[in-house]
Amino acid sequence: MLIPIESVLDKATAADWLARLQAADWVDGRNTAGSLAVSVKDNLQLDDKHPLSQQLRQEVLARLGQQPEFVSAALPHKVYPPRFNCYQGGGSYGLHVDGSIMHLPDNTPMRTDLSATLFLSEPDAYEGGELVIETEYGAQSIKLGAGDMVLYPATSLHQVMPVTKGRRIASFFWIESMVRDAQAREMLFSLDQTVQALTHERGAKDEQVSNLNGLYHNLLRRWAL
Ligand code: NI
Repeated sequence: MLIPIESVLDKATAADWLARLQAADWVDGRNTAGSLAVSVKDNLQLDDKHPLSQQLRQEVLARLGQQPEFVSAALPHKVYPPRFNCYQGGGSYGLHVDGSIMHLPDNTPMRTDLSATLFLSEPDAYEGGELVIETEYGAQSIKLGAGDMVLYPATSLHQVMPVTKGRRIASFFWIESMVRDAQAREMLFSLDQTVQALTHERGAKDEQVSNLNGLYHNLLRRWAL
């Protein structure tokens, strides 16, 4: 399931970040590609040690924590520090699956359950550059507004189409979820959304709402970690 999450950043913040990123020095993205990915990867990345990268990644993490939809959909256990990439001049990233295990800065390993892309360039600022994700219902082409994000299963084959005009700047990262099984996680997300809607309609004291909320937590307890 692909989950778009709108307005992780407001437009003014996204534009501010974009201006600062556009002025930064970028390095070849192949430096951080695994041995198989290196043959299909053709983009630029901001070095993880770049001060702007260090600052903005903290900002992304802080904003994610305040996004109930993200927390509900991802049930995050570990989040890889967000990175920043740039595609231009025909740059692309051919069909691949992201690495299954990543290492956090303190060298702790994490399993990648979900992949995320936070778009920072507006879609009309570049041509091409769609994130194309293979799903059980066929390939889905994603190109979101600045400040919007998509979450998708890290098990998915995906690619970034060549950017033939303009620049596509985005942030990307991975999440290890408290619930490893994608289907279980998706059902919990759906149940949580339903509980939220019913709570809004009937109030938190409603007996059926309480029952449903209890079920949500007992399923989460059963499936978590
Ligand atoms: Ni990827």
